This record gives sequence, structure tokens and C-alpha cells, in this order.
Amino acid sequence: MKVGILGSGDVAKTLGNGFLQHGHDVMLGTREPAKLTDWTKQNAKGRVGSFSEAATFGELVVLAVKGSVAENALRAAGVANLTGKPVIDVTNPIADQPPVNGVLKFFTTLDESLMERLQREFDAVRFVKAFNSVGNARMVNPQYKGGKPTMFICGNDEAAKKTVRGILDQFGWEAADMGKAESARAIEPLCMLWCIPGFLRNEWTHAFKLLT
Ligand SMILES: NC(=O)c1ccc[n+]([C@@H]2O[C@H](COP(=O)([O-])OP(=O)(O)OC[C@H]3O[C@@H](n4cnc5c(N)ncnc54)[C@H](OP(=O)(O)O)[C@@H]3O)[C@@H](O)[C@H]2O)c1
Repeated sequence: MKVGILGSGDVAKTLGNGFLQHGHDVMLGTREPAKLTDWTKQNAKGRVGSFSEAATFGELVVLAVKGSVAENALRAAGVANLTGKPVIDVTNPIADQPPVNGVLKFFTTLDESLMERLQREFDAVRFVKAFNSVGNARMVNPQYKGGKPTMFICGNDEAAKKTVRGILDQFGWEAADMGKAESARAIEPLCMLWCIPGFLRNEWTHAFKLLT
């Protein structure tokens, strides 16, 4: 697939590598292409453009920007360039205040997730929450003695979720579909839970698994 990734941070670069490694075409989108000079040197097949160029390029788009600016990045990408496309929403609504006893602060509430806000504002875009509950170092081809880890996903569009389940399968994950956009109220806080052992004990390599 042609994959447009909105972002230039660790997540965008890691997923960009992963998509290239699995045979997809990739364009990363940023306001400052110079930030990605090293990434393009290391990934000769990878492309870099603006948010709007990356959105236009992708048949599948990944939103990998700071949670508090997600709306701005989507506006810069251009609603028309995203309409009808599956968009993997990797963002977490982390507030600027520091964690308390290892627990991150969010700027959302348990009655309204960031993805629901995005889905409401950009209603023609097919958002799927995924990849937000693990550190970027384990997003692609994770290896665990306990077997394949689980990635919890949700979104309103079944076809978009099918596309994302296919990508997760390729990247070595078991997908657990938690339903519609409202389920992001539960999936986004998994990021808080995931980060606690990191802040308290400097443990950043775990992943979740759903036992059935
Ligand atoms: N880091 C992880 O391991 C991890 C794991 C799971 C989920 N996440 C989530 O994934 C997302 C990306 O995380 P990250 O650590 O890779 O990067 P980040 O530092 O959270 O975000 C960097 C990106 O945000 C964009 N940005 C910042 N201010 C902006 C603005 N005013 N307008 C438009 N774009 C702006 C930057 O755009 P430019 O390129 O234009 O500067 C850059 O692409 C976050 O929501 C994070 O919570 C992170």
C-alpha cells in the first residue's frame, strides 16, 4: 500500500521503517523536512513531504503527532486529502503537566477520548485507534517469550479496521477489536498504564496480551 505518515517523531520514523520493511511505499509528512534528513539517508526508498503531501500520497494514513496538536495537523493535511481514507490514530492525549507518581495526565476525560473528538470534527475520515498502547521500540515485529502481544483497536468503519488488522498481522501483532470510536475512552488510557512501570522502574519494553 501507499502509506502517508503525518509526523516526524520516533513513532513516525519507526512505523515508516516498518512499513518499508514490509514492502509498502512510505511518505512522512512534516512542517520541517530538514528534521528527517537522517531518516531519508537511512531509508533510501522513503519519501518526505508536507502534511498535505503525505496525506495525498497515502491510501492508508497514520496520524503520529503530539496529541494536543492532532486537529491542527489534520487541518494542515487537508480534509479533502483524507476523506474516505483509513487513518491509523496512534496519538495519546497527554497533557503538558508532569506525571504524578508515574501516572500521566491526560487533557481528555473518561467520557470523551481524543479519537472521538477527531472523528466528530473530521467525520469523512475513517479513524482506527491502534499502536498507542506500546512504546515505539516494540511497534514493529515485537518479540516476546509469551508469544504475540495484543494491540487493542477501535473505530467506526469495519473496512478501515480490516485494513488495520492486516497491517497489525504483518507487523507481528494480534489485533483485539474493541468496537466503535467510544472504545478509545478505554484504549487511550492504556498508554498511562503502559508508562507506569517506565516512570517508576525504568521498564519500557513490555506489551499487553489478552488471554482468552
Ligand atoms: N513515543 C512513543 O513511543 C509513543 C508510543 C505510542 C503512542 N505515541 C503517541 O504518538 C504520537 C507521536 O509521538 P512521538 O513521540 O513520535 O512524537 P511527538 O513528539 O509526540 O510529536 C511530534 C510530532 O508532532 C508534530 N507537531 C508538534 N507541534 C505541532 C503543531 N503545532 N502543529 C502540527 N504538528 C505539530 C510535529 O510536527 P513537525 O514534524 O512538523 O515538527 C511532529 O511530527 C503522540 O501522540 C504520542 O503520544 C507515542
